[in-house]
Amino acid sequence: MKIGRLNHVGVATPDVEAAAKRYADLYGASDATPAKAFPQLGVKVIFVSVPNMQIELIEPLGEASPIHKFLDKNPKGGQHHMCFEVPDIIAARDAMVERGATVLGTGEPYIGAHGVPVIFVHPKNTGGVLIELMQDPALYDGEGA
Ligand code: CO
Repeated sequence: MKIGRLNHVGVATPDVEAAAKRYADLYGASDATPAKAFPQLGVKVIFVSVPNMQIELIEPLGEASPIHKFLDKNPKGGQHHMCFEVPDIIAARDAMVERGATVLGTGEPYIGAHGVPVIFVHPKNTGGVLIELMQDPALYDGEGA
């Protein structure tokens, strides 16, 4: 298993609309999606597209949101994770386990904000960087999560 394209960088923020406006006003990155709520994931998300990838702006949604802990430590927000595409999310998960990494949650891939299965690898395995692995959308047939 070898990671592929960088799909997006996740940025946690207390306010996705304000964050998207900053990327537009300061950097001219105005190609942003409307905010979308994912109650099952505990997040509200805006994707800002740049030519080679996206910035995933993430705001906590609901009491059980996984983003609260991050914002407690970084109240103004900050870089949260990097996401790489993989050709086969199950094979990638198995490779992570085999190589001794810790896959967060149940260890089973689940559908993320991009509509394809994802897993997260514990930051302790990557020098403090939380890594998301995402099924390559071009190779996703709707099965496997
Ligand atoms: Co992500």
